[in-house]
Amino acid sequence: MTIKKVGVLGCGLMGSGIAQVAASAGFETVVREVSDDLIQRGFAGVEKSLAKFAEKGAITGEQQQEIHGRLSGTTTFEALADCDIIIEAIIENLEEKRKTYAELDRICKPETIFASNTSSISITEMMTATSPERQKRFIGMHFFNPVPLMKLVEVIRTILTDETIYEEAIEFGKQLGKTTVRTSDKTGFIVNRLLVPYMLDAIRALEEGVGSITDIDTAMKLGLGYPMGPFTLGDFVGLDTTYYIAEIMFNEFREKRFAPPPLLKRMVLAGLYGRKSGRGFYDYSTDPKNPTPMNLV
Ligand code: CAA
Repeated sequence: MTIKKVGVLGCGLMGSGIAQVAASAGFETVVREVSDDLIQRGFAGVEKSLAKFAEKGAITGEQQQEIHGRLSGTTTFEALADCDIIIEAIIENLEEKRKTYAELDRICKPETIFASNTSSISITEMMTATSPERQKRFIGMHFFNPVPLMKLVEVIRTILTDETIYEEAIEFGKQLGKTTVRTSDKTGFIVNRLLVPYMLDAIRALEEGVGSITDIDTAMKLGLGYPMGPFTLGDFVGLDTTYYIAEIMFNEFREKRFAPPPLLKRMVLAGLYGRKSGRGFYDYSTDPKNPTPMNLV
């Protein structure tokens, strides 16, 4: 099967980014959200991102219009019925995802491939909400934030994924302009398996007085050439999200390296989620471009 029409579930940060990348790669793309308001909010982000690319000359004004023309929003599941692949990027809640997949399974054509963008929920556990035939066509496609800039997609197979479908998904990832890596349904896949313990260790190092927030960030940024230090990255990803992923990974592996440190838990309890809430390891409220480190320990 050749993928022509792409469905995206969820028009948040990840969903809108995935939709943008699919439409930019030439695919007819439909995004489903629960309200028109959320679609408009997501599409405003797409607009901003495309404008940046156009400003830099990476795309022409004409291409910008063509991308818009390939992108549409819907609040129904029925509009996704004839999609060749559906990439799900809704809230990280297993029950919500299972409910959505069960409904889509009834509505979509038998050939539709289901792909989840989850960062940590088991693909297998979502897959079992669908029929045995669909289970062969069920994979993970994990994108990275900001989706239009980050080059990687992890393509995840379960023990029931059909070999041909998996190869199609790899090919599709390449058509999106991304570099794909192959991985299996083990919580955290490749990137979060290695990233999460690193970020948690940085918090432990802070708790133990190894260095300050800025010194640890600067050390990792300049010492290793990382684009962001661990605390800037944590604030960027969201500390609530990081905590949630760590909890799932700890439950799966029962290893201390995945256990969220007390400081992270308390920051999340106190509403310090990072950039999105204005405060995390840094305070973004005065000058978001030059945030000041918080006094946390
Ligand atoms: N669309 C288009 N252009 C964008 C953009 C977007 N969405 N976001 C940023 N840009 C542009 C900016 O406008 C800027 O353009 P100019 O150079 O013309 O000013 C350029 O990209 C660089 O951006 P910034 O100057 O703001 O900052 P930067 O140089 O630090 O780059 C970054 C930003 C690409 C995000 C870089 O800091 C980076 O790679 N950070 C690490 C990101 C990362 O690790 N992401 C993965 C998180 S983990 C995850 O997503 C998965 C999970 O499961 C948790």
